[in-house]
Amino acid sequence: MHLFEDRGFVHPVPSEITPAAVYASRRRWLQRLALGAAGASLASWAARDARASIAPPGRLAPLPSVRSTAPGAVVVDKPTAYADVTGYNNFYEFGTDKADPAARAGSLRPRPWTVVVDGEVARPRRFDLDELLRLAPMEERIYRLRCVEGWSMVIPWVGYPIAELIRRVAPTGNAKYVQFETLADPAQMPGLRSRVLDWPYVEALRLDEAMHPLALLAFGLYGEVLPNQNGAPVRTVVPWKYGFKSGKSIVRIRFSEKQPPTSWNLAAPGEYGFYSNVNPEVDHPRWSQATERRIGEDGLFARKRPTLMFNGYAPQVASLYAGLDLRRFF
Ligand code: MTE
Repeated sequence: MHLFEDRGFVHPVPSEITPAAVYASRRRWLQRLALGAAGASLASWAARDARASIAPPGRLAPLPSVRSTAPGAVVVDKPTAYADVTGYNNFYEFGTDKADPAARAGSLRPRPWTVVVDGEVARPRRFDLDELLRLAPMEERIYRLRCVEGWSMVIPWVGYPIAELIRRVAPTGNAKYVQFETLADPAQMPGLRSRVLDWPYVEALRLDEAMHPLALLAFGLYGEVLPNQNGAPVRTVVPWKYGFKSGKSIVRIRFSEKQPPTSWNLAAPGEYGFYSNVNPEVDHPRWSQATERRIGEDGLFARKRPTLMFNGYAPQVASLYAGLDLRRFF
């Protein structure tokens, strides 16, 4: 029994979530129907879909960047197809089904946009999106994203370290934590009608985690600005933590001395801790976290991959947690 049940929602166990392959083949089937291509051969359809899904369709504005040279910033794994990165999402403000964000996030208006930065900082201020886009050089970072539900993707993000912004607002000596608050506008987000989470969606990091060079403020993916369903116009990406620590469509960044509340921890404290570091040794209370299914490799006979400590970023981030009992602080 956990809190979600009071809200009429129980986070489904991974086996109940539509596997991406089934979902993708259903989508291909619907596309085929929509295009009235029933006569086309299956083989030519499969080939066309494979080509089309790797690169962005080019409908969004390009966001030029340079390939990052920071240690750990570029994984060697093959990036997940654009169609999966932008079609299989969690963004509960638009619904809880994986297909909801792509289908419904068209109502999000990513411009004009401002981000308020306040709390324990010497220079609190409001940033306009264009100021944020010019704040630091844009880098391409190819990160693994591991969802707590047991699937993963590899995504070429465009952005710069959150540390770039943090330095400019000068945290005071009291600042120990950073909270990220995301947009909650019922006029733009139909999912807010559901009480599945307390809105606005909030996430937080310890200040030293947020200052780590791998913790990213992302504005784009696959060389273009973020699609709405991926958290336009600005989100965080913290690659060594479960995906839910990376808040989408951020409107406020607040520095504090006390550990701030976070949405998933409030919703189900026994299932989602504050840290939420990817740790194959700490099971979710209702499923194992030892392995993961890489989206795009999830055919009927595809083997799962072993989940790596800190999602494979241990060489870069393990020192942040030296001396912390990671079973107690999960
Ligand atoms: N941010 C907001 N505002 N709302 C959400 O529901 N879901 C989180 C995270 N950020 C979420 C959010 C979860 S559970 C995951 S796994 C990632 O976004 C998914 O990011 P992606 O859809 O870009 O892969």
